[in-house]
Amino acid sequence: MTKKIFSGVQPSGNLHLGNYIGAIKNFVDLQNQKGNQCVYCVVDLHAITLRQDPKILKENIRETTAAFLASGIDPKKSIIFNQSLVPAHAEGSWILGCVARMGWLNRMTQFKEKAGKDKEKASIGLYIYPILMTADILLYDATHVPVGEDQKQHLELSRDIAQKFNTDFKAPNFLQVPEPLIQKNFSRIMSLKDGTKKMSKSDPSDQSRINLTDTKDQILNKIKKAKTDESPMPDEIGKLEKRPEVENLLGIYSSLNNQNLEKSINEFSGKNFSSFKAVLADLVAENISPISQEIIKLLQNKDYIDKILKEGAEKADKQASQKINEIKKIIGF
Ligand code: AMP
Ligand code: TRP
Repeated sequence: MTKKIFSGVQPSGNLHLGNYIGAIKNFVDLQNQKGNQCVYCVVDLHAITLRQDPKILKENIRETTAAFLASGIDPKKSIIFNQSLVPAHAEGSWILGCVARMGWLNRMTQFKEKAGKDKEKASIGLYIYPILMTADILLYDATHVPVGEDQKQHLELSRDIAQKFNTDFKAPNFLQVPEPLIQKNFSRIMSLKDGTKKMSKSDPSDQSRINLTDTKDQILNKIKKAKTDESPMPDEIGKLEKRPEVENLLGIYSSLNNQNLEKSINEFSGKNFSSFKAVLADLVAENISPISQEIIKLLQNKDYIDKILKEGAEKADKQASQKINEIKKIIGF
């Protein structure tokens, strides 16, 4: 079966190892599986739900694109573009916003987290953000959407909206109901300073994350200093309970080695931490520093990146405008 893949990453700077393992690495694997058609979007319309400095936003759009390319997303195989170049996303978002229900949006936990205590002061965009995400996905008839665990609830909302549209307008199967693709074991990479907190671009401590633009030395240093505990390496999965930092580091190790957690535990069982950390640091550096060097190189040629985005947008627009036209017909415009 041909899988149609769609996913997006916000251009809000500081892309990190969590984005790589939770999302971008899978984008590349999916692209390289035969028969898949992949669309990867730099979701700049989503980024402005929080205030952005215009100059920095422009740079971040390029940096995220460079991270896609440097990680192995190939513009000859996949469509790479930024959302604001394709008007159907904003149009689709309005129309689907008239299908979605307030009650559904009110359940979204990410809004609650991002809006914080003073919900009244959050932008309307932040509130309706999952509807724009739904438009992104449905405009391309995506069958599968690779995301980190934190986006699962948004995906469920997309499914509800697609189904309600199809029912309300008596258009069975017109909007494709998408399936989330969430990595089972390593869908949440945690902070290097606190294993109970997600690795995040907005964490004030740079030591909490490995950025995709870190140098080899920075990477080695951050892993060396990553929080651990006093006990030796565990010899079985059950012993990871209440050891979130250790579980996270073993998760990173397993994921970058494409192996399961049991295997990693067996490799290091009973050993001391420093020997594990040394191997892990090398592995992370081996995976990430070629990407960071390539990002820096790509960013020196802004015209090239802009050209990739423009060409990608032309291809994306063909699909999205056709779909939005069908949607408009169905709703009576
Ligand atoms: P964002 O940067 O929030 O737009 O996220 C881009 C993608 O990275 C989404 O699919 C997220 O689920 C994923 N992601 C972000 N942070 C993490 C993390 N700490 N662990 C795993 N996946 C993550
Ligand atoms: N909301 C996603 C995030 O913050 C990014 C995103 C926007 C997305 N549109 C999407 C992901 C469509 C998958 C599909 O990570």
